[in-house]
Amino acid sequence: MRAIALFIVLSATTPFVSSSQAQDAAAGEKVFTKCKVCHVADKDQNKVGPSLNGVIGRTAGTHPGFSYSAAMTAAGKSGVKWDEPTLTTYLHAPQAMVKGTKMTFPGLKDDKDIANVIAYLKQFSK
Ligand code: HEC
Repeated sequence: MRAIALFIVLSATTPFVSSSQAQDAAAGEKVFTKCKVCHVADKDQNKVGPSLNGVIGRTAGTHPGFSYSAAMTAAGKSGVKWDEPTLTTYLHAPQAMVKGTKMTFPGLKDDKDIANVIAYLKQFSK
């Protein structure tokens, strides 16, 4: 029911936004408040978690100056690169995809939230 209500709100506001991508990123910025305790995306800065500036296209566990878990480093070495599919899986259930990750975040349940937060992160990636 909540998803339906959200859909109606989004549809109602769409005519005032020039591109649907901008709409997604704006919604994603709100979702990102859940990540902000640990992550920064609009500038290149590590906090509790690694900087998410430029994360799209980056190999997992490779941001300079961040002390990753062995699990995340291993994920990168095994070829995990952050793009839409891998981020969707990871953000859904971080511990399930990277067993032993030190990202203590249970994951996002709503696929729409995940898509929107990825759209938000894309703004800060090349
Ligand atoms: C409680 C703190 C915390 C929260 C909240 C959190 N993260 Fe993380 N995140 C981390 C830590 C710590 C790592 C490093 C994980 C490791 O080394 O295993 C990480 C790693 C990541 C990575 C991998 C980055 C890389 O360089 O490989 C991504 C992507 C990510 N987080 C996205 C998010 C998003 C998006 C959210 C919000 C939906 C979020 N995180 C919420 C702490 C957090």
